[in-house]
Amino acid sequence: NKKAFIFDLDGVIVDTAKYHFLAWQKIAKELNIDFTLEHNELLKGVSRVRSLDIILELGNVEASQEDKDKWLIQKNEDYLTYLVDMNESEILPGVFTILKFLKEKNQPIALGSASKNARPILEKTGILSYFNVVVDGNDVTNAKPDPEVFLIAAKLLNISPENAIVFEDSVAGVQAANTGKMTSVGIGEESILQEAKYIFKDFTEIDTDFIEELIKE
Ligand code: G6P
Ligand code: MG
Repeated sequence: NKKAFIFDLDGVIVDTAKYHFLAWQKIAKELNIDFTLEHNELLKGVSRVRSLDIILELGNVEASQEDKDKWLIQKNEDYLTYLVDMNESEILPGVFTILKFLKEKNQPIALGSASKNARPILEKTGILSYFNVVVDGNDVTNAKPDPEVFLIAAKLLNISPENAIVFEDSVAGVQAANTGKMTSVGIGEESILQEAKYIFKDFTEIDTDFIEELIKE
């Protein structure tokens, strides 16, 4: 059976979670909402709009749509300033090796991200050409844990969901992969990603034998 390999972006390929956190923290501070790194886990894999709602809920803050729109713009403008100097050095350890191996093995590769900034990040880090398809926050109506983003990616690659393997660092993303009947590979802490079929701390812990097994399965 032909396989497809679908990568989440933030927290899997690049460590942008820290930038998202800094940008959200600024907004939270302005609103006097206590927003910690632990809270930030809740925002991983989650859309921008939903992220703001979660932060407002944390602080029991009600806001008008007008204010929300203003903060969403402010958050993204701030976030983009962190991306200006981004280059290939921000690709997380081990990722490049796996991408190269998959390419050598002629495996279809997709990006499946909630971010609307996915393409510029892939361009800046120089890995856009590795991806046969890019599905991101601009292409979906339902955010993770809904499997839509991964289902679209599999469909564009002409691979049935059962033959798709998803690399994810977020709980919402692992749930999306599982709901979509795909093989979920969690990248991060075991305590957070228990629902994933396989879990690795990072890509340096994934060896090419494991990938080979997934291809053969
Ligand atoms: C990813 C990140 C989230 C982020 C979302 C939207 O899933 O894990 O933290 O909120 O993308 O990103 P964007 O770049 O569109 O604001
Ligand atoms: Mg992620």
